[in-house]
Amino acid sequence: MTSANLVPIPELFVSADSAAKLKLDAGDLPSWDLTQRQTCDLELLMNGGFNPLKGFLTEADYDGVCREMRLSNGKFWPMPITLDVTEDFAAQIEPGQDIALRDMEGVILAIMSVTDKWTPDKSKEAKLVFGADDIAHPSVNYLHRKANPVYLGGPITGIQQPVHYDFRSRRNTPNELRTYFRKLGWRRIVAFQTRNPLHRAHQELTFRAAREAQANLLIHPSVGMTKPGDIDHFTRVRCYEAVLDQYPASTTTLSLLNLAMRMGGPREACWHGIIRRNHGCTHMIVGRDHAGPGNDSSGKPFYGPYDAQELFRKHQDEIGVEMVDFKQMVYVQEKAQYEPRDEVEEGQTILDISGTELRRRLQEGLDIPDWFSFPAVVEELRQSKPPRASQGFTVFFTGLSGSGKSTVANALMVKLMEMGGRPVTLLDGDVVRKHLSSELGFSKEHRDINIRRIGYVASEITKNGGIAICAPIAPYEATRAAVREMVETYGAFLEVHVATSIEECERRDRKGLYKLAREGKIKEFTGISDPYEAPKSPEVRLETEGNEIDYSAQQVILKLENMGLVRA
Ligand code: PPS
Repeated sequence: MTSANLVPIPELFVSADSAAKLKLDAGDLPSWDLTQRQTCDLELLMNGGFNPLKGFLTEADYDGVCREMRLSNGKFWPMPITLDVTEDFAAQIEPGQDIALRDMEGVILAIMSVTDKWTPDKSKEAKLVFGADDIAHPSVNYLHRKANPVYLGGPITGIQQPVHYDFRSRRNTPNELRTYFRKLGWRRIVAFQTRNPLHRAHQELTFRAAREAQANLLIHPSVGMTKPGDIDHFTRVRCYEAVLDQYPASTTTLSLLNLAMRMGGPREACWHGIIRRNHGCTHMIVGRDHAGPGNDSSGKPFYGPYDAQELFRKHQDEIGVEMVDFKQMVYVQEKAQYEPRDEVEEGQTILDISGTELRRRLQEGLDIPDWFSFPAVVEELRQSKPPRASQGFTVFFTGLSGSGKSTVANALMVKLMEMGGRPVTLLDGDVVRKHLSSELGFSKEHRDINIRRIGYVASEITKNGGIAICAPIAPYEATRAAVREMVETYGAFLEVHVATSIEECERRDRKGLYKLAREGKIKEFTGISDPYEAPKSPEVRLETEGNEIDYSAQQVILKLENMGLVRA
């Protein structure tokens, strides 16, 4: 008899024939273009990874999940899975209507029968689900700065899976994994969730877990969305493949999970458990600080290191997989092996390299010892993360019109070109408005679009190893933060506030615009009739009054040197 964890799990897809017909009919429905996160969620909803959910949460389910981690039918579910849409789109939709859900290329993946429409209290959601309304938490940040304001809920009819072109053979639906386990005769399977490359500590931990649970091992990394700043999944998967031969093939397998993580610590651990149950696993490893988001704005960790284990233990029966809990694994020098930190004998020497230290070593091209990782993994990481002095970066000047941004930016560009090694592009405010944003005006909305365009181009330049120098006014803090986030996915971001006072800019009035603004002939003029939110903690603040341009540019070069981005 097939064990319960391996029988097929319900999916939300219709048959191929019905899908073809539905797709035709759905062409006329109002359609929503899914965000990356929504696409990840939809994939797991449709393939049973989020079983027992049958769609995006209704308002009642959402309330229950936020407040007490329960759907309105009483079932345990710790993470809100919501479809956030714009006000404009929501205004066209009424409960009772069907909508088509499309991927980024416009392909219809599913139909959703909308039953609920509401405007959530995002601060309340943040506090209930993530423990604090603090934008230092990646998901709270996402909630306030990226997620749309209105939620739609209702059941999904699946038409097709999102298509992946990368690592196709390593991606499996819950039912594919269940079939695979059945075929190999695996009954007890322990899952290892990760968003990082595997180093020796992870290998030891997974070996021990499999031994302890007397189970086969599923290495099950999340490759959907992880914490901003994480190593990209292409590099990670190459790293996983590089260490796979360190595991006995007959006991271990690797499968990629297109999960958009929320970094929700304890709640997230329980959610991961349910997802692994759905993928046919009987056990899951929960280590130190599982799915931890790092520190809050006051520098304290959002969650205790073992909070996730505690909550998991409490709900283990409902989650349906057994937790294999681990303390942090550390290297014991005298024994030349890894041990859980709490089992290390007194007087022994513990060696450890934190994530931050590893990044520093990679950035500076320093040694990464053999006891820490596998040579093949280190090589892969070095290839994808060359030392900082060879990586792309963005210098983002912000300041009032006439503050001297363009002049200093030009001087900086010339100095960097003199140094050579990387291509340099200047995205000056006026030039961008001519070539990229000629249709835009100066309303908040248009300024934001303009800055996001600059941010997008700068992030592409940074990704490809170049230097982008931007010099717009960029008056809004939140938009600058969004650009920083876009760029920091690929490289360093240096914000330079050209802090020339409004009085001085107006006195200089190089383009005669301040005079026109005072006369009311130019509306919404920054500093006169429109706001400028000065950066609170830019990497560099330049006082240009009384200082030479060359000196100002030099200040930026010194900071770049100090950050290791250019060689001294
Ligand atoms: S923004 O807010 O970042 O999108 O502005 P930006 O693209 O940098 O454009 C600024 C240049 O446009 C001219 N200009 C104005 N600036 C501010 N407010 C209003 N209403 C306005 N109208 C035209 C001005 O010359 C700015 O150039 P710089 O180089 O900053 O002086």
